[in-house]
Formats: sequence, C-alpha cells, structure tokens
Amino acid sequence: MSVLKDNSKYILNTRNKADGLKLMSLIKDTSVSAAFFDPQYRGILDKLKYGNEGVSRGKMRSSLPQMNRDTIISFIKEINRVLKASGHLFLWVDKFHLCQGVLDWINDTELNLVDMIVWDKGRIGMGYRTRRKSEYLIVFQKSPVKAKSCWRDHSIPDVWGEKAGKIHTHSKPVELQKRLICAVTLEGDVILDPAAGGFSVLTACKEAGRDFIGGDIVYGEDF
Ligand SMILES: C[S@@+](CC[C@H](N)C(=O)[O-])C[C@H]1O[C@@H](n2cnc3c(N)ncnc32)[C@H](O)[C@@H]1O
Repeated sequence: MSVLKDNSKYILNTRNKADGLKLMSLIKDTSVSAAFFDPQYRGILDKLKYGNEGVSRGKMRSSLPQMNRDTIISFIKEINRVLKASGHLFLWVDKFHLCQGVLDWINDTELNLVDMIVWDKGRIGMGYRTRRKSEYLIVFQKSPVKAKSCWRDHSIPDVWGEKAGKIHTHSKPVELQKRLICAVTLEGDVILDPAAGGFSVLTACKEAGRDFIGGDIVYGEDF
C-alpha cells in the first residue's frame, strides 16, 4: 500500500523538487517507518546577528533557503504525524544546536529522545575557537519506545568516522545512514527525508533495498 495520498504528484525513489511541508502533507498518517531530517539551520546566524548576506564564507551554503525555529518545529510535527508507531527520526544537528538543546522542538509530539551519534567527518572545518570536525545525529523514537524489537543492529558505535561525498555542501555519510536504515526498518518499508539536499538518504535507501520518499526545494527535479 502506498504511503502517498491519491492526489500526490510526488514519486517514490526519486529526487522530487518539493517544499518539504507540501510533500509531507501528501503522505498518509503513520505510514513511514523512519525519517531523516537535516535542517538548513539559521540559528547560529541569528545568534551571531548575521543574515544570509553577511556570511562571507561558503557562498553555496549561505544561498540555501534557511529554516527558522518555527519552520523546523512545523517539519518535526509533520514527521511525527507520518511516522509509524515506534518509528525513528534521525535529526542532524550542529554543535550550536546540540549545546543549546532541541527538546522544545518535540513538544506536542509523540517523539522521545533515545540516543545520539557523533559523526567524525574526517576533515577539519572552520571555527572561531576550536575547528569543527564533527556533527551530531540525535535519535528520536515515536511512542511506544521499544529497543529490542525495533533496533536490530547492536554493533553500531556512537562515534562514527566516515568521509561524506561531495555532491552537496552538507552531504551526510551514506554508510552510517544505511546502517541505521537497516537497523530500524525492513525491506518494503519507506524512509522519509523532507529536505534531502544531495539525496544521501536516497542513495542509502537504494543500497539498503528500501523505498524512499523525499525531496528538496532547490536540488530536486520536477517530474
Ligand atoms: C543541510 S541540507 C541537507 C543535506 C542532506 N542531508 C545531504 O546529505 O545532502 C538542507 C537542505 O534543505 C533544503 N531546504 C530548505 N528549505 C526547504 C524546504 N522548505 N523544503 C525542502 N527543502 C528545503 C535546502 O535546499 C538544503 O539543500
């Protein structure tokens, strides 16, 4: 049975060009088994009082449409709606948001914080003090929280080293995402990524033999 509503123009296992909220509005309730969400953060820019135009480093990065707190919360509420019971949300965060805390983003949802993974990117970035080499993946599970029957791979370390591909300025590690997909889903399950960037989750799904629904407002393709 399809996870998409009958009037959906979006397609499984493709790079849909879509606003993530619009795309998710066309997904049925409690239908997807896992979701990845990698927001285009502007929290650090707000904090530093920079706007898009004030950032001199990384033209591509600063020209991407950014998500404020309200937009991120709207995405998470929709992910909560479409996730199956006991399904997982893997939320990518940077150091700023990890330290600031993201738990108020899951108010009014059935999501529970269950784990976190440090991604060692294997290359050194910028930073006003220490230089960035890691990002963080916060793991939420929709109620009811269950570990034994829902997470089948017990040898994934919580510090993961992998170099990401260069398809997108924020590309995430395919092998880690594939390992997580295999740990929490079965063949025939659908995995969601509503702000997919370079579609690393689609690549991971293809390698894992799972179905993908997702899109990006800039990098997707019109069908
Ligand atoms: C951090 S990147 C995702 C990178 C991705 N995880 C990967 O591995 O390539 C965030 C993406 O969100 C997209 N984006 C921003 N606002 C969006 C929206 N309303 N709907 C869908 N995508 C959006 C941006 O275009 C950007 O490509």
